[in-house]
Amino acid sequence: MRRDKVTVPKLMEMKKSGKKITMLTAYDCSFAEILDEVGIDILLVGDSLGNVILGYDNTIPVTMEDVIHHTKAVFRGVKNALVVGDMPFMSYFSREETLRNAGRLIQAGAEAVKLEGGLVFEDKIRALTEVGIPVMGHVGLLPQSIHQMGGYKVQGRTPEAAKKILNDAKAVEQAGAFSVVLEGMPSDLAKKITEELKIPTIGIGAGVHCDGQVLVTHDLMGFYEKTPRFVKRYANLRKVILEASRKYKEDVEEGAFPTDGYGYS
Ligand code: KIV
Repeated sequence: MRRDKVTVPKLMEMKKSGKKITMLTAYDCSFAEILDEVGIDILLVGDSLGNVILGYDNTIPVTMEDVIHHTKAVFRGVKNALVVGDMPFMSYFSREETLRNAGRLIQAGAEAVKLEGGLVFEDKIRALTEVGIPVMGHVGLLPQSIHQMGGYKVQGRTPEAAKKILNDAKAVEQAGAFSVVLEGMPSDLAKKITEELKIPTIGIGAGVHCDGQVLVTHDLMGFYEKTPRFVKRYANLRKVILEASRKYKEDVEEGAFPTDGYGYS
């Protein structure tokens, strides 16, 4: 099936027309090709690659080199999805670093960058959008700030905290971002933000009212025994891989693989 390239203006149109936006994480070419083939709109080379691919406990150790490496791989697998590269922890604290690091992600194949934080990073978002680098914001639960937040906790539960998140989202929009991830917040707060912003909101653990949804691909594919409460598991790849690799081991050990048909004459 022929599909059109997903672009930043197209995502804005999707919000206007009420068509839901789909976004998933991708860290390598093989997954990127498959997710692109089904027409996922946005592939995020998330710093969640720290947990999923590199085995860290959180996203904080992830470096620019890590995200660049995986962005290059994802870019090679994609035809139509918009590729977004995540700015890792400490890569957007000064204006110069922000521009240089975002530029490196764009050179690696990302078509936009994502960074965590609202009002405090307004100037960085503006600096990027002014030079033509599209930015996706990220407000609410911020995995790069878990030490300050005291863990992966739902944000915005008090009226003051909800107001702060709404203001953060507005600041991100004002600074020129083309969309914003709303992570870990009550669904009625995500609804209010979605209604008040002109740019699309993409929710994760933020309920049904966002303009789109994102999940960590490995969570929905069932790689893990445990997943966050907001994840729907669409497959059990852990089971599939366990069974296949067990069977392979058994076959090799018992001489059932390879048989004549699998070699060269
Ligand atoms: O790094 C990531 O995967 C993310 C999404 C979960 C939004 O930031």
